[in-house]
Amino acid sequence: MADLCVNLCGVLLKNPVIGASGTFGYGREYNEFFPVSRLGGVSCKGTTLEERLGNPPPRIAETPAGMLNSVGLQNPGVKRFISEAIPFLKKQGTAIIANVAGSSVDDYRRIVEILSDTDVDMIEVNISCPNVKEGGVQFGATCAGAEEVTKAVRAVSKKPLMIKLTPNVTDIAEIAAAVEAAGADCVSLINTLLGMRIDIRTRRPVLRNNTGGLSGPAVLPVAVRMVWQVANRVKIPVVGMGGIAKWQDAVEMLLAGASAVQIGAANFTDPFTPVKVLEGLEQYLDDNGIEKVGDLVGKVQPW
Ligand code: DOR
Repeated sequence: MADLCVNLCGVLLKNPVIGASGTFGYGREYNEFFPVSRLGGVSCKGTTLEERLGNPPPRIAETPAGMLNSVGLQNPGVKRFISEAIPFLKKQGTAIIANVAGSSVDDYRRIVEILSDTDVDMIEVNISCPNVKEGGVQFGATCAGAEEVTKAVRAVSKKPLMIKLTPNVTDIAEIAAAVEAAGADCVSLINTLLGMRIDIRTRRPVLRNNTGGLSGPAVLPVAVRMVWQVANRVKIPVVGMGGIAKWQDAVEMLLAGASAVQIGAANFTDPFTPVKVLEGLEQYLDDNGIEKVGDLVGKVQPW
């Protein structure tokens, strides 16, 4: 059996498959389908300092290309995250990744400071939500903004920091290099791709927020390209996500340079996706005589 362990900047994951933020809740719902302990880690729904109700509905739309969402960071706030989500996840035996967001640099700094003293294993700093007016992509779309947030959280964090990047930029490798220089331990990408659909009957956008983030199979080629570009630019580990629905997609991500993968939208169509990806990946490694999953990372062959 191949060795699936991944050392992600000091955090030992039993395997490289992680439930992506916003699609995996706090792991509770998935435990009804399979033990969450099967996964390398769970990235929790984005947490902010205070409770947020998110954007008004409709804020989810299924399209043939994938899912559009404009949830707007609905979450119960960091206090309840700490008292309700962490104790449950701690019992499951999987790495706990707290995903955090803020409206200002100071918000990011404060929430990371608070979570630094909890049992979370890693903090994923979301500077890439496309659905909020303040925060999110406002920081992630420029090198200066990304750098400012990363420096602020670096100064207070006792936990490894993963910065989550947006695809809604011209040069994502440049942003990744900026957060690496500012002290990020690793990067995760891609958050959702900004999109829009219009209902031709009502002639209104399908989302109340007009625009929203696209996820699902349509974004996989964009994600693979961006992971490959970023992995070729930075030395810190890259965690790949965006449209992974099958184990073959995960193998592609690893070949492009991802050390681990996150499974997002596919969880909604098939909650067993992460386990299927894991089993397929293990079989692929065994079939190809690859002893360690790390031996596959970045091994895309040149033409
Ligand atoms: O597509 C997304 N939706 N990305 C995020 O980072 C957050 C989420 C939301 O809550 O809007």
